Amino acid sequence: MHPILNIAVKAARRAGQIINRASLDLDQIKVGVKQQNDFVTEVDRAAEAAIIDIIREAYPEHGILAEESGATGDSEYQWIIDPLDGTTNFIHGFPQYAVSIALAQRGMVIHGVVFDPSRNELFTASKGAGAYLNEKRIRVSRRAKLEEALLGTGFPYRAFEHVDAYLAIMKDMMRKTAGLRRPGSASLDLAYVACGRLDGFWEFGLAPWDMAAGALMITEAGGLVGDLSGEAAHMDTGNVIAGNPKIFAQLLQAIAPHLTATLKA
Ligand code: IPD
Ligand code: CA
Ligand code: CA
Repeated sequence: MHPILNIAVKAARRAGQIINRASLDLDQIKVGVKQQNDFVTEVDRAAEAAIIDIIREAYPEHGILAEESGATGDSEYQWIIDPLDGTTNFIHGFPQYAVSIALAQRGMVIHGVVFDPSRNELFTASKGAGAYLNEKRIRVSRRAKLEEALLGTGFPYRAFEHVDAYLAIMKDMMRKTAGLRRPGSASLDLAYVACGRLDGFWEFGLAPWDMAAGALMITEAGGLVGDLSGEAAHMDTGNVIAGNPKIFAQLLQAIAPHLTATLKA
């Protein structure tokens, strides 16, 4: 494993310990609301602080973009961190959440870790070196037909301006696929596409820290990730489509008729 990825794994596991310990006594956790349906707990903050400590110690000159503490530093290297992706699930004791850590060099993600602490599943990827789940190489699924595909998605839950377009797409997908799931942790959803548990995924309005690590996982596992026009601007637009190459193409085509003036890429 690349030494930089090793640091990311160490940080993700440390955050995972904090999250697991806290999950044993959920009643003790104080929940704050950042904005409508956007929750934060002291666990998010403690996990983020632990991750940043480990990264800073190893790479003090690198920049950091973290969900709870924002952007710091000015370097060609930037760590992109979601300390707890799936906070709503976590608060409810619904065991589907992850720690997501990525490193970008001049805007291109080169290492990524997504760690599910409840199942002890560690997804890792480095650019050009493949994607792994607990050290076993993973590949996207080979399912070629949308009718046979299991798709993941995320519902709009805060910015409701795209809800009609979203529901039209969802209605279509209900008819055209084998099933839809809304697990509630975008980074883990993307990792599930990378290992073939999901054949495809779409969501609008994500943040860079939701996608950075998981998207690298998918491309390193032979899949495709893009924005709503299939281009690579998903980290900028926040809208993402992903899948094995066959399902990605069909998803893109199925979504195209529903795009509106405000929801284009
Ligand atoms: C959220 C999760 C969720 C997705 C939201 C994200 P958070 O992250 O990834 O699946 O639908 O868009 O904001 O707030 O729990 O880190
Ligand atoms: Ca998130
Ligand atoms: Ca989060």
